[in-house]
Amino acid sequence: MTRVVKIEKTGGPEVLKFETVKLDMPGPEEVLIEHKAIGLNFIDIYHRSGLYPVPLPSGIGAEGSGVIKKIGSRVKNFSVNDHIAYAGAPLGSYSSERIYPTKNLVKIPNYINFEIAATLMTKGLTAYYLLYKTYPVSANQTILFHAAAGGVGQIFCQWAKSLGCKVIGTVGSDEKVRTAKKNGCDFIINYSKENFAKKVLEITKDKGVPVVYDGVGKDTFEGSIECLAERGMMVSFGNSSGSVTNIDVKKIIQPKSIYLTRPTMWHYLGTKNELQDGADKLFENIKMGKIKVEILKKYKLEEVVQAHKDLEERKIIGPAIIVP
Ligand SMILES: NC(=O)c1ccc[n+]([C@@H]2O[C@H](COP(=O)([O-])OP(=O)(O)OC[C@H]3O[C@@H](n4cnc5c(N)ncnc54)[C@H](OP(=O)(O)O)[C@@H]3O)[C@@H](O)[C@H]2O)c1
Repeated sequence: MTRVVKIEKTGGPEVLKFETVKLDMPGPEEVLIEHKAIGLNFIDIYHRSGLYPVPLPSGIGAEGSGVIKKIGSRVKNFSVNDHIAYAGAPLGSYSSERIYPTKNLVKIPNYINFEIAATLMTKGLTAYYLLYKTYPVSANQTILFHAAAGGVGQIFCQWAKSLGCKVIGTVGSDEKVRTAKKNGCDFIINYSKENFAKKVLEITKDKGVPVVYDGVGKDTFEGSIECLAERGMMVSFGNSSGSVTNIDVKKIIQPKSIYLTRPTMWHYLGTKNELQDGADKLFENIKMGKIKVEILKKYKLEEVVQAHKDLEERKIIGPAIIVP
């Protein structure tokens, strides 16, 4: 029997409920995975709260790693006992085992353990596509990334630094300043205490930055626009503080002729080749030691309610995982 976490309705962390189910055989293009680690992501909160609506009842969790235990009749590129990781729909990674289509699966190289692998397929690949595809950075550019001590932040900032960027990172507490520094940020701003836009303009001698990567959303959006240089790119890739709504093009875009994009992982990594290329690049950087993943918080599956509370209350530093 398999333990799974489900939601029957949207709401606070208390809507996360446990069930024990018997899994069917995998379909022709599916595999049965025994999870070894599960990625905890802010997107899980959006699914649970209803910010990103999903048909209910629903499983929850979009990232995991583990071992293939059974394969469907038409599966060609994966075998029983392969070590794999994945991200994306269908939701349901908060479980001890699950059935999953092969489309989003990637084999994990032997130098990456299951726990680290469970942080890479969402957070690591997001850092990859933001840095290489959404706005391809160049060495010596000064760029701004919000929540630099967070899950995506840990990988993104190290990666940007290794590409030669000067990284300005924001954080919400003094405790997180140390982490952001460790992640490679050259300048760190505690935006709970300081006006980050003013500080960024000071750092850049009023020029502004060519790109802002903003996963915080509502609370930082306007300040981020202030930080941009003329013809700069605003990459609004998340909403941990709430969604950005009602954009006034004349007020926001026109004054500096900026570009605004709201990217989503699956528009960049939607094909098997795109996914594998991104994963290869990410794994290679980990192998070379350019990106070090440090997991400071692990939860048991039974502790998912607490995990969601901690993530929402900004208590988690770096990527966290759930161990089934
Ligand atoms: N578009 C995509 O393809 C994609 C893919 C993956 C992730 N994302 C987005 O990337 C962002 C980071 O994801 P993550 O899973 O790594 O989360 P995370 O960065 O570990 O956690 C979110 C962080 O946001 C900051 N924050 C600022 N205001 C907040 C508020 N009012 N409530 C809660 N947090 C607040 C907190 O850091 P401080 O305390 O330092 O401010 C918090 O730690 C999220 O917005 C997520 O949705 C987007």
